[in-house]
Amino acid sequence: RSSLASMAGELGLTFGVAVNTDELENDRKYRHLATTQFSSVTAENVMKWGPMEPVRGEIDYGPAEALIASAVENDQLVRGHTLVWHSQTPAWLSPDGTETTLTPQQVRDAMQKRVTETATHFKGQIWQWDVVNEAFNEDGTYRRTVFYNAYEALGLPGHQYIADAFRWAHAADPDALLFYNDYNLEFTSPKVLAAEAMVKELLAQDVPIHGVGLQGHLATQYGFPNLQENLQRFADLGLEVALTEVDIRTFVQPDGNGGFTHEVLTPELQATTEAFWRGTLEACLAVEACNSYTVWGVGDANSWVPGVFPGEGSALLWDERLNKKAQFHELRDVL
Ligand code: XIL
Repeated sequence: RSSLASMAGELGLTFGVAVNTDELENDRKYRHLATTQFSSVTAENVMKWGPMEPVRGEIDYGPAEALIASAVENDQLVRGHTLVWHSQTPAWLSPDGTETTLTPQQVRDAMQKRVTETATHFKGQIWQWDVVNEAFNEDGTYRRTVFYNAYEALGLPGHQYIADAFRWAHAADPDALLFYNDYNLEFTSPKVLAAEAMVKELLAQDVPIHGVGLQGHLATQYGFPNLQENLQRFADLGLEVALTEVDIRTFVQPDGNGGFTHEVLTPELQATTEAFWRGTLEACLAVEACNSYTVWGVGDANSWVPGVFPGEGSALLWDERLNKKAQFHELRDVL
């Protein structure tokens, strides 16, 4: 049978993947999967501010351009990720996303420059931009990021940086669809209610926001009882919605050498993992405005999960040697 991309395409769904330019360039099997199984790509890291501008004023567009060139060659759309985020910020701006040696005005100016220059540079090549990523705490309050704090210090509402970022991005690239993106929006929570209130406020202020991305970093020990309802919540405001970073991690087996094998799960966790994959895709397909579904990496060897959640893994559709897993077949059955 044909690829995930072509099967999803028949249902009107773009099926994406987060890619790394190193693997794309150096690993043939990876490149084959990334370019044939998916209809859109997201840069896992190379379009983030820190990686792009480690030295102030010296912007490295190279890896992002290579990624886009590959996408163009393979008829893939590009999700731009991400313009404004408190994480992976350049050290000269803020080593931890909060502290800074710049003045508030300098922070605001740097942010405006970052948004405008990046969106301008890639103008016409980006299908959807994650303009602002992860602006909320779990309790629904705004994160006190370097951006928020700078605005407050300037006597502005702290969260006005979000509206500004969308306006600047739209002015630079009027055809790109502009998204707010976050995690833990998949179930009803203070955070998802706060994101909904923010979107309403932005729309009331005529801010150009076109979509909300639910990242979809899920784990088998936590459920997602009402993903469809929470996708629909934003669709009901007239926005597009997307699952932008899906991976489903679970507990993996100790390998006896102090590490873990990510390839053999207990039958119970294997079944739960497959049910989670099915459930996420079905939820997206059930919501008319859910136009794209992106997985956060190709194979388990490339996944960020084991490095961040020790003892957890097997979060993707291909294993560590890039062989298809049952999770892949489960998704294909849904399509
Ligand atoms: C992760 C990448 O996968 C890692 O390679 C990197 O070290 C840290 O960032 N939410 C996001 C993504 O929006 O950008 C993050 O990606 C995962 C969580």
